[in-house]
Amino acid sequence: MSKYIIEGGNRLRGELDVKGAKNSVLTLLAASVLTEEKVVLRNCPNISDVDTMLKILGKLGCKTQRDKDGTVIIDSSGLSSYKIPCDLAKELRSSIFLLGSLLSRLKRARVVYPGGCDIGLRPIDIHLAGLRELGIKIGEKHGHIDCDCTHARCADIVLDLPSVGATENLIMACVFLDGISVLRNCAKEPEIVDLQNFLNAMGAKVRGAGGSVITVEGVKSLHGVEYTPIPDRIVAGTYLIGAAMCGGELVIGNACAEHISSLIAKIPKSTCKIYPRDDKIFVSSEGRHKAVPKIETMYYPGFPTDLQAQMMALQSISDGTSVIVENIFETRFKTASQLCKMGADITVSGSTAVVRGAERLYGAQVTATDLRGGASLVLAAMAAQGVSEIDDIHHIDRGYEDLAEILPTVGVRISRVG
Ligand code: EPZ
Repeated sequence: MSKYIIEGGNRLRGELDVKGAKNSVLTLLAASVLTEEKVVLRNCPNISDVDTMLKILGKLGCKTQRDKDGTVIIDSSGLSSYKIPCDLAKELRSSIFLLGSLLSRLKRARVVYPGGCDIGLRPIDIHLAGLRELGIKIGEKHGHIDCDCTHARCADIVLDLPSVGATENLIMACVFLDGISVLRNCAKEPEIVDLQNFLNAMGAKVRGAGGSVITVEGVKSLHGVEYTPIPDRIVAGTYLIGAAMCGGELVIGNACAEHISSLIAKIPKSTCKIYPRDDKIFVSSEGRHKAVPKIETMYYPGFPTDLQAQMMALQSISDGTSVIVENIFETRFKTASQLCKMGADITVSGSTAVVRGAERLYGAQVTATDLRGGASLVLAAMAAQGVSEIDDIHHIDRGYEDLAEILPTVGVRISRVG
């Protein structure tokens, strides 16, 4: 299994460019089967979740191609199966997004309960409840979910929770239904707006994304499209926190500051200057930061759960005490114990973590437990005194391009072994 070896203590200097957002690209790949024509996605990240999604599309009969420059081409004219392969579906939460698009295209879909990061129960009841409201017949046995869209019709649906995936799945399930479907209590993440823009560029009639009520007016068919997904706000936020932890001057290119405004609001201005300008974010960090007294993860535009672990690493070397409350997922504090191996002082109780800032962290042998927790350990190792070894970095590879290629360009001493 691969590992990262990181020698900490260097300030950052230089520019890091952000690629297309993982959590948009995966959804747009699922949506690409809504047309028989060619779909071209630009600036896609070279990460394993995208590889897995492309493998799933290939098993369904699609032709896919990925170029070195991040261009991904999907031709689903040969789409021949509605059965999402179990082994691949278990690797990837986003496999569930194919339910909506396969039902719209083939009127049938079969999937197993999806996999993904081990950060909580991650049920799909809201997805299934919404599909049933649309008149889709759903059978569940031996872990398989079989859906039949033959008698589906538009509906007015209220989601129990503003679930990102359920919002996206239901939008895709409605695109060809006669009439106007209304989805209420929707997620407001930028990736939902990106899906709306992508589908409308293909000829769909989706309105309201970014707000809590989305309408989808059914159309007969969708045509091909060439599209550039939004930048990855979580990767941009990860780099920003890294600059705050290591000190120095970092430019984050192809980044949308508005998408991480809740993070920027939590970074102490006196010791970390942040200047958004056009599609760049300039960060200048000097000295020890004050702890942020309270951080609560919330649905967008609140503080993102996907930056919680990275923020915990920053608080572990900030001056004072920070209380972090994780409101979205049940077990997303696994990284705390690994940070404590590096000298952090973190006490976890249920959905609350109390972080007492230490003078510094020290290099140690730690293990990535999930995608964002692994990223948090990389940041901690970059700021620590001494050498760290991070195992199980396949978790990190799911959402970050090879950091041993990227981070040395801004002064980080990191190598990949194995
Ligand atoms: C998406 O996951 C993202 N993944 C996650 O990013 C992100 O953390 C999450 O949204 C929240 O922003 C992708 O887009 C591929 P949810 P998703 O449905 O759609 C509960 C990362 O690190 N819920 O918005 O699975 C659920 O348990 C990943 O990039 C139900 O109860 O998240 C959670 O508590 C991790 N029933 C809350 O809603 C359902 O049917 C939010 O989940 C669905 C969700």
